[in-house]
Amino acid sequence: MKKSVYDNEQELLKAIIELHCPEGIELDPMYFKGNFYKGIKEPKYKFDIAPQVLGVKKADAKDLPIDNDSIDSVILDPPFMFGIHGNTEKYYSSRTHGILKDFQALKELYQGILKEAYRVLKRNGTCIFKCQDYTDSKTTMTHCEVYNWAKEIGFYAKDLAILHLPKGKVYNPNLTQRHLRKTHSYFWVLKKT
Ligand SMILES: C[S@@+](CC[C@H](N)C(=O)[O-])C[C@H]1O[C@@H](n2cnc3c(N)ncnc32)[C@H](O)[C@@H]1O
Repeated sequence: MKKSVYDNEQELLKAIIELHCPEGIELDPMYFKGNFYKGIKEPKYKFDIAPQVLGVKKADAKDLPIDNDSIDSVILDPPFMFGIHGNTEKYYSSRTHGILKDFQALKELYQGILKEAYRVLKRNGTCIFKCQDYTDSKTTMTHCEVYNWAKEIGFYAKDLAILHLPKGKVYNPNLTQRHLRKTHSYFWVLKKT
């Protein structure tokens, strides 16, 4: 039985793929090093704004060289941290895949990639969107923002899975803890209606 909470990213992705896009993921425009595809079929189209590995083409996920209504499934995994101040950039960028300037930058990127995914997907196509909530000095419930932005664009939020990875969490040990440490991320399954 496929459930909604996992402690292994590949098992989670396999469940979503089997249920919602059995042909596999066709497009990954934020590929990075392709950590998703351990035991999972590689996508046909792979892009990144800063390609790291062979076979990945350079493109902006907000403006892809892909025709309208031509793709069955896409996965989006944008950077989730924002708010550059003091040493945050220096501290985090060596440990993660980048940090966005502020919430406005996150909003522009997320809305832009959602709109572009909607444009390239066929009707009834599937967009898997990985995101996580983020606490800096205050908490942003990013997964709620993604839900609202996706709905505004026309997506139907058909499903949601949670990945719980208590180990390897990125945090700044120099700060006093004032919020629960977020050890989970979300995978929205959005359908183009
Ligand atoms: C969190 S990483 C993706 C990790 C990947 N899913 C993996 O498991 O290996 C985010 C990626 O998005 C890329 N990126 C950021 N902004 C982008 C944009 N506008 N267009 C395309 N790629 C972008 C970054 O270069 C980075 O490689």
